[in-house]
Amino acid sequence: MKTLIRKPIVLEPDGTFRETDIIIKDDKISHVDLSDDLEVFDHTIDGRGKFVVPGFINAHTHASMTLLRSYADDKELMAWLNEDIWPIEAKMTREDIYWGAALAAVEMIKSGTTAFADMYGPFMDEVAKIVDESGLRGVLSRGLIGVAPDADEKLAENVDLYRDFNGAADGRISVMLGPHAIYTCPPDYLKKVEREATRLNCEIHIHMNETLTEVNDCRKNYGRRPFEIVAESGLFDHGTLAAHCVHLDESEIDIIKRHNIRVAHNPGSNLKLASGICPVTKLMREGITVALGTDGASSNNNLDMLEEIKLAALIHKVDRMDPLAVTAAEAIQMGTENGARAIGLKDVGRIEKGMKADLVLLDMNSAAWTPCFNPASLLVYSGNSSAVDTVIVDGKILMENHELKTLDEEKVLAEAANCARRLTNK
Ligand code: NI
Repeated sequence: MKTLIRKPIVLEPDGTFRETDIIIKDDKISHVDLSDDLEVFDHTIDGRGKFVVPGFINAHTHASMTLLRSYADDKELMAWLNEDIWPIEAKMTREDIYWGAALAAVEMIKSGTTAFADMYGPFMDEVAKIVDESGLRGVLSRGLIGVAPDADEKLAENVDLYRDFNGAADGRISVMLGPHAIYTCPPDYLKKVEREATRLNCEIHIHMNETLTEVNDCRKNYGRRPFEIVAESGLFDHGTLAAHCVHLDESEIDIIKRHNIRVAHNPGSNLKLASGICPVTKLMREGITVALGTDGASSNNNLDMLEEIKLAALIHKVDRMDPLAVTAAEAIQMGTENGARAIGLKDVGRIEKGMKADLVLLDMNSAAWTPCFNPASLLVYSGNSSAVDTVIVDGKILMENHELKTLDEEKVLAEAANCARRLTNK
């Protein structure tokens, strides 16, 4: 299969842009230059008036939580989890997880996300099924609650998920172990997870230092800060994706650096739950990989990565009182190339020959994109995800001219709404 994208404006890996052609051969970008008119293609996309960027990478989410979108808002994190979210989640069936993930997939494709790192469960095989059917890339983990009565079963489910799905869907699925957080996983349980990580040679996806309460409770219970406790379990020796990292001291930043931990910054969720602001500029100065995530749709309340990119570009400016704190180009890089690195995808995140063809075409024919001096700047500060026109993953078209090709949008919306109604009796 050979596809030509004719004369779009292309975002280059160095942040510059130019009008050129892109040729996709099977799953890879085979050419980023003006093409020979004599070549024959299976499919041609008219790229004129379109801006092509690498697909957005959602480095931290809980896909099936879309079912609880707007169910409980404007509450403090622990009260929100204990009183609203966890009791409903405990009732979720296999069918709920499937349609929740399908709803997430529709939303992600329509807003230009091509890969996501998910932590949820039970029934993560249903999320894997949606990754397979939708054509997205998914890095999946079973959320592990060490204080739960069935903590060992949850770990066994994560191990099964790894065995059954790591490398599945033509390599579009990979699996990590998902110890939820220090406040739900005591040190002895973290050690159990570590033993499985060693056995499977598997990476870790964990929430770290999201709230001040979490850090203070950890110091009270274990005498040290969360990163020190988790480092002691050996978990960080396995390659770690750490979500949030809002409240860090210097010694913890040092641990992040030493263990090459990749940070998933979730500005929307951190703002909504008043968790605080991740010290992104400090982390970037230390050469730490900072990616972006939406977190679950019930703490955001959507999975729109362009909103996170815009928030990342804006909140650090005011936090540092420095308009150069995070530039538009840096924010895009956090949502694309850094995201790929953070979730362990090696040949994704840049538009260049040999990389996987995971691309988003944005329609620049609208008021928000006019005039166009700098499309990267327009993407971050002026446009929104309604400009997402065509989405390609692994060389396959998942949406063209706003029309989904792999999922039945109407059916997904109806089924997901039914599941949410049944779950909440509303
Ligand atoms: Ni989360």
